[in-house]
Amino acid sequence: MNKLITYIFLIFPLLGFSQELITNVHNRQTTSLNGEWNYIVDQYETGYYSFHHDAFDQQKGFQKSAFYSNYHAQNKQELVEYDFDKSPTMTIPGDWNSQKENLFYYEGNIWFKKSFDYDLKENKRLFVYFGAINYKAEVYLNGIKLGIHEGGFTPFNFEISSIIKEKDNFLVVKVDDTRKKEAVPTTNTDWFNYGGITRDVLLIEEPKSFIQDYFVQLKKGDKNTISGFVKINNFDENEEFINIKIPELKINYKGKINAEGMVSFEINSKKIKYWSPETPKLYDVSLEYNNQILQDNIGFRTIETQNAKILLNGKPVFLKGISIHEENDKGGRANSKADALRLLTWAKELGCNYVRLAHYPHNENMVRLADKIGLMVWEEIPVYWTVDFTNMETYKNAENQLVEMIGRDKNRCSTIIWSMANETPISDARNTFINNLNAKARDLDNTRLISAALLTKSNNLNSYVDDPIAENLDIIAFNEYLGWYGGNLDDAEKIKWTSKYNKPVVVSEFGGGAKAGLHGKKNERWTEEFQEYLYVQNLKMIEKIPNISGLSPWILVDFRSPRRLLPEIQDGYNRKGLISNKGIKKKAFFVLKNFYNNK
Ligand code: GCU
Repeated sequence: MNKLITYIFLIFPLLGFSQELITNVHNRQTTSLNGEWNYIVDQYETGYYSFHHDAFDQQKGFQKSAFYSNYHAQNKQELVEYDFDKSPTMTIPGDWNSQKENLFYYEGNIWFKKSFDYDLKENKRLFVYFGAINYKAEVYLNGIKLGIHEGGFTPFNFEISSIIKEKDNFLVVKVDDTRKKEAVPTTNTDWFNYGGITRDVLLIEEPKSFIQDYFVQLKKGDKNTISGFVKINNFDENEEFINIKIPELKINYKGKINAEGMVSFEINSKKIKYWSPETPKLYDVSLEYNNQILQDNIGFRTIETQNAKILLNGKPVFLKGISIHEENDKGGRANSKADALRLLTWAKELGCNYVRLAHYPHNENMVRLADKIGLMVWEEIPVYWTVDFTNMETYKNAENQLVEMIGRDKNRCSTIIWSMANETPISDARNTFINNLNAKARDLDNTRLISAALLTKSNNLNSYVDDPIAENLDIIAFNEYLGWYGGNLDDAEKIKWTSKYNKPVVVSEFGGGAKAGLHGKKNERWTEEFQEYLYVQNLKMIEKIPNISGLSPWILVDFRSPRRLLPEIQDGYNRKGLISNKGIKKKAFFVLKNFYNNK
């Protein structure tokens, strides 16, 4: 056994960062590795560094003290000071904070191990896929390092065809959720830093040459042309064509693959039923190549801005929205279909046709459900408050999260807006940082709108946005907290908003806290009556904002935040929800519902 690992270790050097994303994993041949995983809390990274702080996976030869070796003492004399199989377990996917009381406040390193057998046939390839791991993941299979991934909210995968064994494979993941200045997000956020393997872990089996990725959406500005690309992994010259079939539209397109394994296509169709929140039409689409048939459900809609209006399928639309954090009913990180249904059903009940998924890409179940039930979506990368805009590594990290977000969800018609950032302070470095992300997003996908949640300025009763990056954004979105962080609610109707941009305006956040069940006068903070009045007044003000095209009040449900510490009121929760974390609707919920029903 030791000789084998030593041999393998010499042959297969470090494989580096995560590989190109395999998309639409839900409709591929997969084996789930979800379930109970052993874990070892490793505060001092004892399983990663020697006592002289040399990283084991940088050393030559077999490192039995390295936790990724999953080594067991061979006899009663041998010294080994860890044992995954005797270590506790937790459920994956799932954050460690809400599963283990003694890990509630833990931030740092935890190792996870999953053993499994897999009979990989000769002519097949195998990949391991992670829906998301917060925050930094170092992944090993059978003692071999597959690579590293940074960013807690986007998927990544590694090929393991050459490492997999029929029996006793051990997948080991070192997860580090230590908050760092140079990270994305940085150290300070108003949400809870849930650590762990927070989304599905899948084995994906594919033929030698297979469909890796594709983009099938309406061409920008052309509602009768379906366009995009298909990317083949390890293109096989004997298989020159792919087929794109949309039976309901009588489309059976045959495309010739070029030498790079790519097909770009444009398919004309005058019979498309367009997706909208009222009629969330999805088509069965299949991509066929090399005996592989990849199914997907895709909707077609156009989204654009014209003269300060947002047009959906060519018609002006008002975004009746709500902001949402990705939390489940147990005070943990949400990830399942049931979690998505709980949150989006409430949004529908509120009368929404739109949701802002804040401040990071939520799990894929959310956007796929939004496709299905008809909710337009704002997706965002966690460039939040004061990330280190001067640091090129920070930029690369943010850009990588953007690439992965767009990579995963570019075929989701519900997603209409990519957001680059939230409440970031104006500076040259910041402007360049976000403008570069903006350019990258347009390069990857020119069919959707680009925005960011901006801060506002005001003097007396005049409020406005004056931000250099707004020039390059399609939608002027801003957060305002009249009556909570400043201003007087009674002045709401006197406040004059001006906008120097001939662009649609969306109020991406407004709101105030209330403890569900706490009642009193409308000027008593934390009461439901205060929050109710705050909504009434803010909605009056917002209706008068020039070019107002939508809003997503902060927030659907109370959520955990280490910044909210007022005893008996907050107790570690941001209480700006319209629904409490226990599912109780507050009075303001009905103010907004009524507003949307009359909109
Ligand atoms: C900010 C921020 C949110 C935060 C909210 C609040 O605007 O974008 O992340 O939770 O305000 O203060 O409640």
